[in-house]
Amino acid sequence: MSQIVINGAKALSGEINIQGAKNSVLPVLAATILCDKECHVHNCPDLSDVNTSIKILKQLGCKCARQGNTVSVDSSDMNNYKIPENLMREMRSSVVFLGAIVGKTGKAVISSPGGCELGPRPIDLHLSALNKMGVCIREEHGFLYCDAPEGLYGAEINLSFPSVGATENIILAAVKAKGMTVIHNAAKEPEISDLADFLNSAGARIYGAGSDTVYIHGVEKLSATEHSIIPDRIAAVTYMASAVMTNGKIVINDIMPSHMMAMLSLFYESGCNLKIYKNSLEISRGDKLLRVPKIRSLVYPGFPTDAGPIIISMLTLADGTSMFVENIFENRFRYIDELKRLGAKIKTEGKIAVIEGVSQLLGAPCKATDLRGGAALVCAGLAAKDTTVIGEIGHIERGYENLVDNFKKLGADIYYR
Ligand code: EPZ
Repeated sequence: MSQIVINGAKALSGEINIQGAKNSVLPVLAATILCDKECHVHNCPDLSDVNTSIKILKQLGCKCARQGNTVSVDSSDMNNYKIPENLMREMRSSVVFLGAIVGKTGKAVISSPGGCELGPRPIDLHLSALNKMGVCIREEHGFLYCDAPEGLYGAEINLSFPSVGATENIILAAVKAKGMTVIHNAAKEPEISDLADFLNSAGARIYGAGSDTVYIHGVEKLSATEHSIIPDRIAAVTYMASAVMTNGKIVINDIMPSHMMAMLSLFYESGCNLKIYKNSLEISRGDKLLRVPKIRSLVYPGFPTDAGPIIISMLTLADGTSMFVENIFENRFRYIDELKRLGAKIKTEGKIAVIEGVSQLLGAPCKATDLRGGAALVCAGLAAKDTTVIGEIGHIERGYENLVDNFKKLGADIYYR
């Protein structure tokens, strides 16, 4: 399977269930290292990034098994603190294991996570925080050698940017540190609260997760626990946009609308019909898809950067011109050249994309440049007349469970080749 083929312009209809959140399951699987007994994590999506996390856990000496959408981890026999370079390269976000490994063993060796498709992905905020908590960090030949000779102790951390990964790593390092850690200007994404819920269910003492100040009182031990991962809000928006772009009507289940407010208001602003229930919603396009004059990506609860490519793809079919300002990543527009191959009219200048709506997209061969850019191409291909062939689909497989099967269920003519 190296390509996704779509014969587009078919209105989607029906209903699907939304997967567990990729960006929550990764830090939660890392957090299982800190528990002294076997943990069961439910609603884990079947994604290549999750499979890489399982490989890392096994590499560390943990017992790890998947049963359907439940991943069970027992780290009592963990005997390693090094993540091999190939696994670090396979998944950039494996840097979130750093805080958990150091928190468990007092040591860690990881290769410096390279940049990724979104541009440089520095981890200076992660490292300076761990350093304040007693971790000595030496960078040599592309590897980071971390060691806490006196063990980890609590510290007061002021993040200059509310980094999701840095907030997660600090929490993971702090839960069993001596004393209290306070994170000021912490990230507030729902995935942070989900990580804290998992850890607190195992006996951690974390307060304020989801706000900009998080308090972690270090504890001696963490027990066994079970936890179910929150729904993936970005996957949810991807299916919503595909229904709007194909002028269909779908229902998506197993969502948490409260995690999606900034995105839902954008669908309202573009004239969509939305019926929102406790854990599901129904969406269809209005009489016409209205342009959205200005959208800017912000940290939570603002409009999430990960939904940017999906929404830009949708607005290629709007009536009028929209503008998107990307404030989080330096290089998030690489997929736009691929979208333009399907007839999209988009101009970019720095962090600004100007999207001039067209009446119809036309299928074309293209390739995914990154996870969400790839998803944007799938949405465009579903709306486009004729055939779209998407290459480099490994990017998409990182974050979307059963993508092709789900769209087939909704009536799309889509298949792997
Ligand atoms: C997480 O990445 C997500 N990944 C990203 O999702 C998401 O886009 C991002 O948060 C923002 O919401 C996972 O959770 C696995 P950040 P992360 O640290 O933690 C700069 C997807 O599509 N920064 O909040 O890497 C950084 O360069 C992925 O699912 C520093 O400068 O995001 C970026 O410009 C893509 N120094 C900004 O902060 C640091 O030490 C946001 O980064 C850390 C970050």
